[in-house]
Amino acid sequence: MTTEPVIRAQDVAYPHLQVPDLDAIEAFLMDFGMTRADRRADVLHMRGSGSAPFVHLIHQGAPAFLGFAFTLASRDDLDRLAATEGFTPVEALDSPGGGWKTSTRDPDGNLVEAVFGISPLAPLADLSPRLLNMGNDFRRIGAVQRIKAGPSRIKRFGHLALNVANVPASLAWYHQRFGLLQSDRVNLAPGQPVAAFTRCDRGAEPADHHSILFASSMGSGGIAGLNHLSWEVCDIDDVHAGREYLTARRRTPEWGIGRHLLGSQVFDYWRDPWGHIHEHWTDGDQLDASVLPGDHPIGLGRVSQWGPDMPETFGRTIAPAEA
Ligand SMILES: [Fe+2]
Repeated sequence: MTTEPVIRAQDVAYPHLQVPDLDAIEAFLMDFGMTRADRRADVLHMRGSGSAPFVHLIHQGAPAFLGFAFTLASRDDLDRLAATEGFTPVEALDSPGGGWKTSTRDPDGNLVEAVFGISPLAPLADLSPRLLNMGNDFRRIGAVQRIKAGPSRIKRFGHLALNVANVPASLAWYHQRFGLLQSDRVNLAPGQPVAAFTRCDRGAEPADHHSILFASSMGSGGIAGLNHLSWEVCDIDDVHAGREYLTARRRTPEWGIGRHLLGSQVFDYWRDPWGHIHEHWTDGDQLDASVLPGDHPIGLGRVSQWGPDMPETFGRTIAPAEA
């Protein structure tokens, strides 16, 4: 892992999902907290309440996870990647906010785009966390707390988890091209990771504990592909209010609410009508590039600090009708 990467990706921007019914996925994602950014005959862009012009890209077709996009720091980085073996020439993005992309395929065949120059928009909502009176830090004096019922306020696309055929091969591939750093590894034996949480290298600037979790497809019946997709919401009330709203809308819960161990996020997972797992989370760990990987034995105990046990079905795309 000492190879100098081609570039250092700054974040993840959006996934590419494919489903047969764009009306149905739009309705699900509105319940989840998104709004329509752009809709064409065969492609739908949805946005959250933050500055990104879209945070989810859905194509019409047979249900499938197609891939995702990284955000780059500069046009130079985009050109450097495009000149690297296996990447396409730079082309304009045909999506809200414009910008440019190059793309490639990872070892499992997932589309990996790298984008630069997408123009931000004014946020759609106030994304400030609600003021709390907690411990010895009281922030709300002389004011009441009133939580408006409704969908979560989605801030951004936060991370994704992939089931991969070979975790070490994926780690090396992503590090060499995009500079991903390892935050925590779960090992079958020393040096044999079966799950690895990786973050973007922003130097001294902190980054999310993980932008991509690579999980061995041994845990998903040998099938590589999507484990889950995840969006950051504004605060813990958004996780709970969002759950109430999705429940009232008769959506399909998967796992939550709990607090993860590795990454520390408060999480809640839901399935779309085709079974793709969509997560709300808040309050994750932030690490700069100096933090070294943590190693943990498999079977380290519960994967949450509190909350329900992880269901057997977690991490696999199972249509609710089949579950
Ligand atoms: Fe997650």
